Amino acid sequence: MVNMRCFVATALALTGAAYAAPVVSDSDRFTFLNMPTPLGLPCDLAVGPDNMIYTNYLLANKIVQINPTTNAIKEFDIPFTLPLLSNLSLPVYGGVAFAPCVVRPGQDGNMYAATGLRNQLAKLDLATGVVSVFTPPNALQPVGNLQLLNDMWGGPEDMFLSQSTADVISAFNYKTHQWRTYQVPTPGSNPFGMRYASDGALWFTETLGQKIGRLNTTTGVIQEFPVPFPTVATPAVLRVETGGDMLWFTCFVSDSVAGINMYTHNFTNYRNTAFGSAVSVPSVNTLDAQNNIWFSTWTQNLLTYFPPATGKMTHIEIPRTLIYTPISVPFEMNVGVQYYGGEGKNRIYFTQSIFNRVGYYDLDAGQ
Ligand SMILES: *[C@@H]1O[C@H](CO)[C@@H](O)[C@H](O)[C@H]1NC(C)=O
Ligand SMILES: *[C@@H]1O[C@H](CO)[C@@H](O)[C@H](O)[C@H]1NC(C)=O
Ligand SMILES: *[C@@H]1O[C@H](CO)[C@@H](O)[C@H](O)[C@H]1NC(C)=O
Repeated sequence: MVNMRCFVATALALTGAAYAAPVVSDSDRFTFLNMPTPLGLPCDLAVGPDNMIYTNYLLANKIVQINPTTNAIKEFDIPFTLPLLSNLSLPVYGGVAFAPCVVRPGQDGNMYAATGLRNQLAKLDLATGVVSVFTPPNALQPVGNLQLLNDMWGGPEDMFLSQSTADVISAFNYKTHQWRTYQVPTPGSNPFGMRYASDGALWFTETLGQKIGRLNTTTGVIQEFPVPFPTVATPAVLRVETGGDMLWFTCFVSDSVAGINMYTHNFTNYRNTAFGSAVSVPSVNTLDAQNNIWFSTWTQNLLTYFPPATGKMTHIEIPRTLIYTPISVPFEMNVGVQYYGGEGKNRIYFTQSIFNRVGYYDLDAGQ
């Protein structure tokens, strides 16, 4: 989802700085699951239509299924296809997935993942276990459609994906397998996080355009709402809706989670209150059953949540960490975070990519 090298370098430069304990230390409630593929680097997380947890690897061509009842892990291979040699926007890179960080459920009952620099969409058919790969029609645009920094969302009829470097949002129809392409009006806007909201529109962030977009998927009309920059800067992942009118998104640079009212277009912004969080890089957000918004922080091994009405944050230490803040040691790269309320569970799942593991935190004691 993000340029990893840049953040690793930042982290290495800043390690060893001051320590202050976050609010909650609760290590009994954590469970860690090591991924079977060495150096796979799990990144995003989602709940499937089958109530299983799914993650995808940054560095391996697989979609991973975790059974929340047994903790059993199953992997599905993404076939390596060359769409057409002439259509590749990059030289051949040895068949290795590079930096895809998104897995999402489709409303057709299947799971979808991006393939990173291969610029394709992978569909895991949950009935057959077969993964198919689909190539968007616009892979030849001059700047390429590198999906390194992208996201997806399953709408009622289409899987939507942002092709960030080409300023494009694409829709893949579940039934016909036809693509539609929507050009974002602002050049260099880098469309990224997205959610099909209760108003029937696809809302998305423009990470470099510093705007929130709204796509009418019927007419193709895109409205754009500038964020109050720099209070709100680099809107990133937008996955939470609350109260029927608010959409919430993480902000890398303003170190915050912000909201936009879908009807008044007013913004709310809550700064991360963890100690030394200036470069925490809030990454992904998710809503729990108590209507709390949780978010991951790329560089700090914490899980943080807040009620949308007050923004009052609680920070929970992820155990197996020597130093929590300002940059955690060891640096584990916490990106994925996903609430899970199925099978009688009440959990927050998270990924720690560099340690090749998925963890979960039980919200109820003694689960
Ligand atoms: C690949 O490029 C050819 C033209 O060179 C074009 O006709 C075809 O539609 C492209 N295919 C894809 C999948 O983009
Ligand atoms: C999309 O635009 C059409 C035409 O203006 C309108 O009737 C429809 O309600 C819009 N859809 C959404 C979700 O805003
Ligand atoms: C939204 O913002 C406008 C302009 O700043 C303001 O007049 C209005 O009261 C705000 N509405 C709410 C519900 O906060």
